[in-house]
Amino acid sequence: MGLKIVVLAAGQGTRMKSSLPKVLHPLAGKPMLAHVIDAARALSPTSIIVVCGHQKQAIQQAFANQALEFVEQVPQQGTADAVLKALPKINTNEKVLILYGDVPLISTETLNQLVEKTKDGLGIITLTMGNPFGLGRIVRDNNGNVLKVVEQKDATEQEQKICEINTGIYLVPGHLLHKWVPQIQNKNKQNEFYLTDIVEMAAKEGINIFTLAPLHIEDILGVNDQAQLAQVERAYQYKMANALMAKGVTLADPGRLDVRGKLDVQSEVFIDINAIFEGQVTLKKGCHIGPNCILKNATLGENVTVLANCYLEDVTIDDNATVGPFARLRPGTKLGQSVRVGNFVEIKNATIGNHSKINHLSYVGDATIGNDVNIGAGTITCNYDGANKHHTIIEDEVFIGSDTQLIAPIRVGKGATIGAGSTVNKDVPENQLTLTHQLNQRSKKWARPKKSTTPNNKQENP
Ligand code: UD1
Ligand code: MG
Repeated sequence: MGLKIVVLAAGQGTRMKSSLPKVLHPLAGKPMLAHVIDAARALSPTSIIVVCGHQKQAIQQAFANQALEFVEQVPQQGTADAVLKALPKINTNEKVLILYGDVPLISTETLNQLVEKTKDGLGIITLTMGNPFGLGRIVRDNNGNVLKVVEQKDATEQEQKICEINTGIYLVPGHLLHKWVPQIQNKNKQNEFYLTDIVEMAAKEGINIFTLAPLHIEDILGVNDQAQLAQVERAYQYKMANALMAKGVTLADPGRLDVRGKLDVQSEVFIDINAIFEGQVTLKKGCHIGPNCILKNATLGENVTVLANCYLEDVTIDDNATVGPFARLRPGTKLGQSVRVGNFVEIKNATIGNHSKINHLSYVGDATIGNDVNIGAGTITCNYDGANKHHTIIEDEVFIGSDTQLIAPIRVGKGATIGAGSTVNKDVPENQLTLTHQLNQRSKKWARPKKSTTPNNKQENP
């Protein structure tokens, strides 16, 4: 029997006070709805149906490259009405899992358990909590059998005391959903069509009702406003932090870590506060990430040190290299072994060979730099002529003096030395000194001018 998944996402989300549809608000760098879809997809369903409201197009666009089915629910008349709109796409011989676009941290493990343990009949994820206010309550008889779900607004005083709540996540046989949902009426305080009514229908028909608690508390956290979004974000990040620490990573503060993608780590890694990891990041054994660093799509070899306040994007760094503080490594940067990149250095689309150093205030773009090269402070590869980009090649063991401009395209031969302050626009021969200006003249007779003391000769502002 196949599994079909229906994700309800038609709610307006007015409490978010945002023009962005609620389910598109990013959580850990991707839309909330994407988290639900990823968890759902891991169950290998026959298909995933997303029920959308007014902003259907924006949602559909955001997931244009994914295999999803969309149905529209306008106006929104309740959770049963939402499922009604999806019914034509559901076969009677399938099991149907109902999820919510605004309950983003639902885990595949919890859903797997619900699917495995609900042998037949209806499965519901429920949770006993200290403050159940606002949520639907699970009403049981004296033997503990589930009778129905009652919403906060419809609950009697006695029922309001119940602490077991309905998370709204159900597993229902398709034929029963087809039978029950069209029968649901809106005779309740909110005049809405409540999907929760299927629970009472199941109980009355003697259908088995299986309840399961979520494996992790964050599984069932819902997002209705910005404060809840921030709470769910932190819950997610603590989960990431705990998983990293379980692998032996030392975190300066698990409360100040943001993983917005996939972070693969080896042992002996240290991560200081306020690090942000985006896309796919790999940190091999012994890496040290300083405070306030952003690493996006980066692969770091063993014992790489990134000092405070660096921004790395689409980079590969070999073992034992050091970067920063305050360095920006832009896409296409490849650093060899034991390379040192220091403060206020920007590198783009460049390969830097083993043991080379670019320690201060430099721009290196569109360049291939060999091994054991020293790039002095303030060196600039002038790669752009206003229309096209050009390449700079610097061969092994070159020494480039401070404040040098290399006007590309240009090649600096092996072992060459370029004197400080040079502007070089021709290829530089190997193993010799190149200097593009005369060194200062010196004079023993020269004296520093003195301020005139005669009143008629007062200096005007220059
Ligand atoms: C629902 C449950 C309640 C449960 C709670 C858990 C019902 C009647 N009640 O209440 O028992 O404790 O969830 O959070 O189901 N939606 C639509 N179309 C609609 C209405 C809702 O797609 O017409 C979607 C919303 O976008 C949301 C989800 O369904 O993702 C839940 O709707 P919401 O209005 O938040 O239901 P609750 O009142 O919280
Ligand atoms: Mg809700």
